[in-house]
Amino acid sequence: MALWGGRFQGETSALFKLFNDSLPVDYRLFEQDVVGSIAWADAIASVGIITAQECTDLKAALNELLVEVGNDPQAIISNGAEDIHSFVEQKLIAKVGDLGKKLHTGRSRNDQVATDLKLWCKKEGAALLARLGTLHAELIALAEREVDAVMPGYTHLQRAQPVTFGHWALAYVEMFERDISRLQDALGRADSCPLGSGALAGTAYPIDRHALAAALNFARPTLNSLDSVSDRDHVVELCSTASISMMHLSRMAEDLIFFNSGEANFISLSDQVTSGSSLMPQKKNPDALELIRGKTGRVYGSLMGILTTMKALPLAYNKDMQEDKEGLFDVVDSWAICLDMAALVLSGLTVNRPQALVAAQQGYANATELADYLVAKGMPFREAHHVVGEVVVFAIGEQKPIEDLSVAELQQFAKVISDDVYPNLTIEACLEKRDVLGGTAINQVQAAIAAKKA
Ligand code: ARG
Repeated sequence: MALWGGRFQGETSALFKLFNDSLPVDYRLFEQDVVGSIAWADAIASVGIITAQECTDLKAALNELLVEVGNDPQAIISNGAEDIHSFVEQKLIAKVGDLGKKLHTGRSRNDQVATDLKLWCKKEGAALLARLGTLHAELIALAEREVDAVMPGYTHLQRAQPVTFGHWALAYVEMFERDISRLQDALGRADSCPLGSGALAGTAYPIDRHALAAALNFARPTLNSLDSVSDRDHVVELCSTASISMMHLSRMAEDLIFFNSGEANFISLSDQVTSGSSLMPQKKNPDALELIRGKTGRVYGSLMGILTTMKALPLAYNKDMQEDKEGLFDVVDSWAICLDMAALVLSGLTVNRPQALVAAQQGYANATELADYLVAKGMPFREAHHVVGEVVVFAIGEQKPIEDLSVAELQQFAKVISDDVYPNLTIEACLEKRDVLGGTAINQVQAAIAAKKA
């Protein structure tokens, strides 16, 4: 039976029920709805709406329900109730009869669903922080393993200057640290309890909302009832935090897909996270990484979905807001599994050091070093840049790297060049010179790793 039958004389259509019911989605709020209901039982007992004994009986029945239904979504959905709040109330009435009908005194599904969803965001948010932490640790472990593995660094996907694989890994550490801080911020803002706001105007009973918020482990109660029931900023913020993090995951995935390509071959991926082709026996495809890249799209889509649903909604609650959950749940599920998958990919990744080193040596990645050498000899950088450009054109014509050109050949472009140029052109020199905070010199990367681990 619906929670609102009295005012109606006709039957609702089957199509409307199908359209209106949210149980197939919001069954995931079962635990939060029961926990919220237990706190509400205490709240209404404290102002004399129910007796201490009635409160004890209601809470016992709710706790029983928690155990009985557990996390069996099928048991909930097949029940056919309108939404998770109706489901819990029906089950409660089936257990304790008329007493169950007293629980909703002073409460609305509007403050109830807002509370349930915030409790859910807090719980899932904590799990996401742990997952981000695991990925962070995997990246640092990779940086440590490959602290001195040389690879080409790119701009415009053109080989630019050599870096180390450790340095590459630490770039993503920075990104995921920002994601962690963004998620913590979002969860901090979500940490206010809407329960006791009623349908929109505040509950008519003198509930201590501070105590109620504390009972549900919220940092504080919300402060305006109209806002309480219509605020979905926490949904938007979780989706946006997830979108930014998925952007980082997709960039990391793309880098690794390229490093793993036949053309680059800088890394090998574990058999655990790759798949084959049904036709081409030789194939070992980076599916895990491609799916991380691909799932980024649906997460962005859900962010746009919730922003657009909330756009221009008048105060206070509107049924439009029931559409907040499907996208959020999908965002959280997608982000969570992508974080786990990325950590698994990194744990089994090996660097093909010889190939990566050869690639770093090719492509004139030490041209900047030659320019810096000329600067040390007194040439202004802009002029040195031009001269080295000419050297590179010449070297390409000779099909040689710069370091294989003779002093005589190099002197055609700048008289100041002598034998002492060659030590400047080695990969080791390129790396060691970047001995500055945030640079790729191995001791800088080691210091960064140590700082991250501390
Ligand atoms: N299923 C609804 C939702 O998720 C619960 C709130 C319904 N409130 C109402 N007044 N119809 O938003």
